[in-house]
Amino acid sequence: MTGHGSGIAFLLNGTPVELSGASPTQTLLDWLREERGLCGTKEGCNEGDCGACTVMVTDASGSHALNACILFLPQLHGKAVRTVEGIAGPDGALHPVQEAMVTHHGSQCGFCTPGFVVSMATAHLNGDRAHDDVLAGNLCRCTGYAPIIRAAEAAEAAPVPDWMKTDAGFLLAEIPRGSGGSAPGLCRPATTDDLADWYIAHPEATLIAGATDVGLWVTKQLRDLSPVAFLGGIEDLKRIAPQGDTIRIGAGVTVEALRQAMAGPHPALAEMLRRFASLQVRNAATIGGNIANGSPIGDGPPALIALGATLHLRRGEVRRSLPLEAFFLDYRKQDRQPGEFVEAVTIPAQAPALRIYKLSKRFDQDISAVCGGFNVTVQDGRVTGARIAFGGMAGIPKRAAAAEAALAGQAWTEDTVRAAMAAMDADFTPLSDMRASADYRRRTAQAMLLRYFHDLAGRPVSVLEVGA
Ligand SMILES: Cc1cc2nc3c(=O)[nH]c(=O)nc-3n(C[C@H](O)[C@H](O)[C@H](O)COP(=O)(O)OP(=O)(O)OC[C@H]3O[C@@H](n4cnc5c(N)ncnc54)[C@H](O)[C@@H]3O)c2cc1C
Ligand code: FES
Ligand code: FES
Repeated sequence: MTGHGSGIAFLLNGTPVELSGASPTQTLLDWLREERGLCGTKEGCNEGDCGACTVMVTDASGSHALNACILFLPQLHGKAVRTVEGIAGPDGALHPVQEAMVTHHGSQCGFCTPGFVVSMATAHLNGDRAHDDVLAGNLCRCTGYAPIIRAAEAAEAAPVPDWMKTDAGFLLAEIPRGSGGSAPGLCRPATTDDLADWYIAHPEATLIAGATDVGLWVTKQLRDLSPVAFLGGIEDLKRIAPQGDTIRIGAGVTVEALRQAMAGPHPALAEMLRRFASLQVRNAATIGGNIANGSPIGDGPPALIALGATLHLRRGEVRRSLPLEAFFLDYRKQDRQPGEFVEAVTIPAQAPALRIYKLSKRFDQDISAVCGGFNVTVQDGRVTGARIAFGGMAGIPKRAAAAEAALAGQAWTEDTVRAAMAAMDADFTPLSDMRASADYRRRTAQAMLLRYFHDLAGRPVSVLEVGA
């Protein structure tokens, strides 16, 4: 087994750094500001919401914008980090996005600006021109977004500066790959087999994948998580592979990688994932973490349950599979044994009738009040299969069994759909909270089914597509 060590090596703005003895749950943001004096990376929310702490991280999968406030130092091992101090050239020449921000008046108080600049420079490097999506995780309270988007557009045509191209090549040559020592209570497994061995011996440990949930346990709840295992180095958990008429998705696949991979087979899933948190969070967050966390308002589970997903768990050498909905037993209680972890989830390769509707107060970067997944198959005008699942309607992600039963075998008509909407009252007793009242949740969940009926009939249903 490799990688039990506490030694962490990465490239920081082009210079190799080696650390030993650092706390495994020290965040990159704290380290940059407190121990390196690199204060360009700002602390706004310290919980992944504002993007003021955005840094660029390059590894074999490419360059990604990430939130440094919920990124632990061991997650950087073997990678290259670029902070806002490394975005301008070594001779002080401004990066094209920095020049454009000046020209287009993209900054006022300036607190958000370093985060914006890093997000924009990363997108510029990747040739990503979906500026609204790229910047949805960067909050600005004073400038307004129009000048910032204009700056991003203005910089599009400028070539990528040479100094921005060095991280990927430099990586392989300069980064020491070894573990650099050992520390009790810290594991960085290189394979799923390594993880299985270590976790069965340390069932009390905290598994850390993207740390977009776990990070907040440290920054907001000040919890001690030890012992910990970082799953980010396990390449075989990051695969998406066709398997017969299914697709197998490794637990370590990031939400952004999944979004991109689903654009072909399941466009409705890809479109919902565009609204999952922000790009910075999606670049870190994994689908395994989303499922294992067991949140009743997570967006992955209702969509995957509607698809008919199968969950694959592993404990030591023992593997078992179960329908995803069976994993969620009660509020924050899952069917997972000590030492058992999520290895993968499989979904059908095709489901043309799949639709997913996410309802939240803001379009971008917001947690769902209700998220509904719908997958009804109709043959010769009759319902031959119905899978409907919701997040936000119960203490767990849950199927609408009564509504499904009201549809089964019936003619696919609006009358049938309205009967199923009424039946849904028996399925859920939602809660009122700051996101929505119980009654609003109940009525919008029912309305989503009617929306689905119209959607499948090809009628325009998206409020974003409503024209004059
Ligand atoms: C700003 C912000 C916005 C967010 N928006 C959304 C949103 O719109 N929709 C949404 O659904 N979620 C959202 N989240 C929550 C979070 O991003 C997701 O739940 C994410 O998928 C968690 O994945 P992770 O890899 O970061 O998990 P981690 O934080 O690393 O882990 C989460 C939990 O899963 C466990 N775990 C991780 N991997 C495994 C495994 N393979 N086997 C067993 N246990 C494992 C961990 O021990 C922990 O208990 C948001 C979070 C933030 C900070
Ligand atoms: S400080 Fe707000 S996202 Fe990190
Ligand atoms: S310029 Fe002040 S927050 Fe954006």
